[in-house]
Amino acid sequence: MEYYIVDSETAIKMKDVAFCITNNNEPQNIKPLYQTDDTALYNADCMDIMAALPDNYIDMIFADPPYNLSNDGITCHAGKMVSVNKGEWDKSNGFEKDLKFHEKWITECKRILKPEGTIWISGTNHSIYQCGFLLQKLGFHILNDISWFKPNAAPNLACTTFAHSHETLLWAKKDKKAKHIFNYEKMKNGIFKEDKMKIPNKQMRSVWSIPTPLPDEKTFGKHPTQKPLALLKRIISSSTNDGSLILDPFNGGGTTGVAAKFIGNRKYIGIDIEKEYIALTINRLNQLNLQNTLFNL
Ligand SMILES: C[S@@+](CC[C@H](N)C(=O)[O-])C[C@H]1O[C@@H](n2cnc3c(N)ncnc32)[C@H](O)[C@@H]1O
Repeated sequence: MEYYIVDSETAIKMKDVAFCITNNNEPQNIKPLYQTDDTALYNADCMDIMAALPDNYIDMIFADPPYNLSNDGITCHAGKMVSVNKGEWDKSNGFEKDLKFHEKWITECKRILKPEGTIWISGTNHSIYQCGFLLQKLGFHILNDISWFKPNAAPNLACTTFAHSHETLLWAKKDKKAKHIFNYEKMKNGIFKEDKMKIPNKQMRSVWSIPTPLPDEKTFGKHPTQKPLALLKRIISSSTNDGSLILDPFNGGGTTGVAAKFIGNRKYIGIDIEKEYIALTINRLNQLNLQNTLFNL
């Protein structure tokens, strides 16, 4: 397979226009930092890239937007007291501005999703209620709210509240009347070794027990809010099919793209405003490509 990699500063070689930027066949001035025949990664504000995408184009969106929880508090990591801050991108700008930000990107997602397309949004209590409210306001139809339970969640050091041990994943479709993808049998009969709550050959329920990312998911360093590969594999296998085009506007360490590649026969567009996270994603994808090549020898 032919692919194009860039170092952190300069593009070495690029195709003229990404496979995915075809807005009325007008060439766009936005180029991916990394591109293969099934993956394009952009280092940009997601609003700029999404604006270049045509209407009704994407099959599935997974979005893990800033949680707006970086408030200089403390948390526990590997038994140590550490700052809760994830980065500048995670600071809250106050309730109204945060709400406006979420409204902007969710509105754009609605425009570019196919009518039968679905969107997943993950978050904690800091952000998920705003996102859920907006999905309803903007006319999405909510299919599920999944509780991702983290059996190995960090303890609550302050001992003033229950230990936070789950995140919420909202799953919604653009058009209530359109038929969305749900691979019911795969979810019911698949093997989910990591999940102590899933009963084999029984319906998949809306509480998923999945540990936080495993050490081998952090070989190239890690993103401060990196999602486990098992979580994204489940999301992608349940709600996409061969040939589906997946978008993650808040790519982070690229878990969605890596899971899409792992499952195979999907196309992926990832966008992140921080170059270091796109670089991390490129490393993870290259490792997977190498493993696939060796496996096929
Ligand atoms: C919660 S993290 C996503 C983590 C990701 N799901 C993973 O598994 O690694 C949110 C990401 O959104 C990025 N981000 C914040 N604002 C953005 C924007 N306007 N456009 C694109 N990316 C943005 C941040 O740099 C951060 O990496």
